[in-house]
Amino acid sequence: MCGIIGYWGKRDASKVLFEGLKKLSYRGYDSWGLCTSSENRFSISKAVENIEHTDIDFSRFAGNIGIGHTRWATHGGVSEANAHPHLCPLEKIAVVHNGVIENFQALRTELKSKGHKFKSETDTEVIPHLIREYMNQDTGFVDAVRTALLRIEGSFAVVAINAEDDIMVASRRGSPLVVGIGDNEYFAASDIPAFLEHTKSVMYLYDNDVAIINDGVYVYNLSDMQPVRREVDSIEWDVEKSMKGEFSHFMLKEIAEQSETIKRASEQDPEKIKRIATWINNAKGIFFVACGSSYHACLSASYIFSAVAKMHINVVYASEFRYYKNFLCNETLVIAVSQSGETADVLDAVKTAKEKGSKVLSIVNNMGSSLMRTSHHTLHMNAGPEICVLSTKTYTSQLAVMTLLAYACIGNHNEGKSVLDVAQNQVYNLTSRSTRDHIKGLADILKDKDNIFTIGRGLQYPTALEAALKIKEVTYIHAEGFAAGELKHGSIALIEKGTPVIAFVSPVNEKETVSNVMEVKARGAYIIGIGPNNNEIYDYFIKVPETSYFDPITQIIPIQILAYKLAVLRNCNPDKPRNLAKSVTVR
Ligand code: F6R
Repeated sequence: MCGIIGYWGKRDASKVLFEGLKKLSYRGYDSWGLCTSSENRFSISKAVENIEHTDIDFSRFAGNIGIGHTRWATHGGVSEANAHPHLCPLEKIAVVHNGVIENFQALRTELKSKGHKFKSETDTEVIPHLIREYMNQDTGFVDAVRTALLRIEGSFAVVAINAEDDIMVASRRGSPLVVGIGDNEYFAASDIPAFLEHTKSVMYLYDNDVAIINDGVYVYNLSDMQPVRREVDSIEWDVEKSMKGEFSHFMLKEIAEQSETIKRASEQDPEKIKRIATWINNAKGIFFVACGSSYHACLSASYIFSAVAKMHINVVYASEFRYYKNFLCNETLVIAVSQSGETADVLDAVKTAKEKGSKVLSIVNNMGSSLMRTSHHTLHMNAGPEICVLSTKTYTSQLAVMTLLAYACIGNHNEGKSVLDVAQNQVYNLTSRSTRDHIKGLADILKDKDNIFTIGRGLQYPTALEAALKIKEVTYIHAEGFAAGELKHGSIALIEKGTPVIAFVSPVNEKETVSNVMEVKARGAYIIGIGPNNNEIYDYFIKVPETSYFDPITQIIPIQILAYKLAVLRNCNPDKPRNLAKSVTVR
């Protein structure tokens, strides 16, 4: 994970980098560091803290070139020594890195045998040392960076600078890196919001690209240094969309945006949707692959495809997909769903699918992401930047896109779109202040609980799983989701007096679900009912009007709000839960 940024231009680099890192801190916030270069020397600052809560003394820095990093620890503990940038032994080369160097131990041993001494436990530190090693052999800086990167096994997005000249080098393999092109100034960062306030012109780097930034951006292939041409795109996101505005947290802002983002997700090019529906209809075997919340969206969609299009779709965790490879052939369609488009497990699954000749469609939010570039076709969710680490608006956008596809498969794209319009209005009401206040009442009741269980049947089952994930990841209350009929097969042993059980109910499964609710109520559970109809056995009721196949979109909204309210009441940071990061680029 981690966020990296490089700046080459005319401004005070430390200020640009510091603000950029704040925007990237959703990618990791264990520690941060930045380094600027001026007159053959570096100014460096590092700290073990979330950069969002920091002030720094900019007068300590000089120069218009620099790099910065915000860390999600993988190799080595959370310490100042392990914070990036890492330097070469002469402290004239500085490097920031996002990714994992799989052969770092072998490289470290080799470098140690040549007299190199390391100051950190990180894998990254081998990079500036290797660069120095090659520069000692009379190789220029750019070639030394390139030779060092060619030795790396694993993934990287790297920005390197040299105190002794004005060149910045940026390169990637398997981790995201995008170049921003301003007016005589250039940026290289893990994600666009890092420099969005300065430019909307972006160049997406591909795997094994190396960009040399020196009064312009020159891109080459890392292996043979042949020039490669990369388009400059203009992006539509505005700065406003990547700011909190009047909201106290991004999580709340992104929850509130959902009626708008569902609308945007539903506005797909009809011809493209029709084409994709034909591939789905003609495929021999279809797999949804995803992780976490995106997996839950896929599971919901599999029920919707079954009900609307009478079609069977296999749903597989991306990290498990390789074990299904014997079922793949060149007529299989793999639909990879990921908000970031950078999740390593998803990218691995796509690789497996392509090795077997299968066709890959991706549903992605981040334009230019690795997944988008590696799949044969992409549908864009259009949700705009999601900054909170938790998926909220991208989850409902994924649901919207997949549900639209289910309708398109039976030639009813328009019907899908009109039902989505209804869902969108419901979501608008569900995110209103009065609903939020009602849910705050529930949060007050649940805030000191140790366990929460969520249950549902049919379409409500994946929602129960997603609800449990939302609650646990941001409140740290243990939460578990179940198919309502499964509780009695063992887990009911955990129910005791006062245990909260949240039941998602639809008129189509009300009788059966309510009877499962009775079973836990009889053992003392505190019941929260979510659905269109109140029932006397509920201790707390949240009304969500029936929306048929769009229930997964509407019924999750109160839980997103509940998770947010609980996090605030329990003094947890809703935007940056502990141990998590937005893009999971490790396996
Ligand atoms: C939960 C959450 C994660 C992601 C998962 C997949 O709120 O955000 O579970 O859904 O890491 O991420 P993407 O969709 O980027 O592949």
